Amino acid sequence: MQVYEKLIPPEPPKRVIFITGASSGIGRAAALLFAAMGDGVAAVARRSDRLADTVKEAEKRKLPGRIFPIEADVTDPAAMQRAVALTLAEFNRLDVLVANAGIGQRGPLVESPWDDLDAVLRTNIDGVIHSVRAAVPAMRASGGGHIVMVSSILGPVPGAYAAAYSASKAATDALARSLRGELKAGHIAVSVLHVGQTHTEFAEKRLGQPGRVATRWPTMTPERVAGGIAQALERKPRTMTLRWIDWLFVWAGQRFPGLLDRILARVYG
Ligand SMILES: NC(=O)c1ccc[n+]([C@@H]2O[C@H](COP(=O)([O-])OP(=O)(O)OC[C@H]3O[C@@H](n4cnc5c(N)ncnc54)[C@H](OP(=O)(O)O)[C@@H]3O)[C@@H](O)[C@H]2O)c1
Repeated sequence: MQVYEKLIPPEPPKRVIFITGASSGIGRAAALLFAAMGDGVAAVARRSDRLADTVKEAEKRKLPGRIFPIEADVTDPAAMQRAVALTLAEFNRLDVLVANAGIGQRGPLVESPWDDLDAVLRTNIDGVIHSVRAAVPAMRASGGGHIVMVSSILGPVPGAYAAAYSASKAATDALARSLRGELKAGHIAVSVLHVGQTHTEFAEKRLGQPGRVATRWPTMTPERVAGGIAQALERKPRTMTLRWIDWLFVWAGQRFPGLLDRILARVYG
């Protein structure tokens, strides 16, 4: 029996999904979820040891899909082109880009070090642009695809002391809206996830004020957000929030900005 099993080629992956920021938090949870769904996952991040942990976890759970780790920095356009070339060499096509890699920053815009603000803008805006520019030709060659941008509820409703971060996440909405028209002919859909507070390494690594969380705002697990990404791939929404409280925050923040700013000031102190 074992001899025959060796002769049967492995099942081809259902979809090939390129996820940036797959070494921790939401990206890691998404990589494991898609591997559980039988997909081929190109898992991109800078920390190769953490990517190796994600691969080991998938093997330990005997997931039917395969995670292919790629060490790359989203702020480097050449590295992203290389990452997509490696994905094509491994899986032969590319169906989905999950542009998830991101960092936070909190503090007054004027007094914060420029290096912190620059890092946020380069990772959260340039990183998404480099990822899209690298992935789209491969998706077009694969007959179409879907881009999911992992953004924040602070994109549509910016918060005080989070100007650079909010601007970087608002930029994903602009990028997505513009790209939707541009990529339609190539059968590539674009969705933006407006994510609320999630329990990951994000707060610890936040530039300016690491470790600080909004204790009065409920927190989700990264697995919940990964489930939301999977739903977005099925439903292809333009934008999506995952909980009623995040939906209400975005709705109220857009309709009653003054009131929301006062609530935010209380939540964040
Ligand atoms: N957690 C929240 O409360 C929350 C709320 C709303 C939105 N979000 C968004 O969700 C996304 C994922 O964050 P998370 O919560 O999962 O945080 P996380 O655990 O800190 O994960 C961030 C990921 O981004 C990667 N990354 C950062 N800079 C990178 C770069 N230059 N090149 C390649 N990869 C890079 C990190 O990997 P390496 O360090 O190994 O490169 C890591 O895998 C972010 O875009 C964030 O803005 C998070």
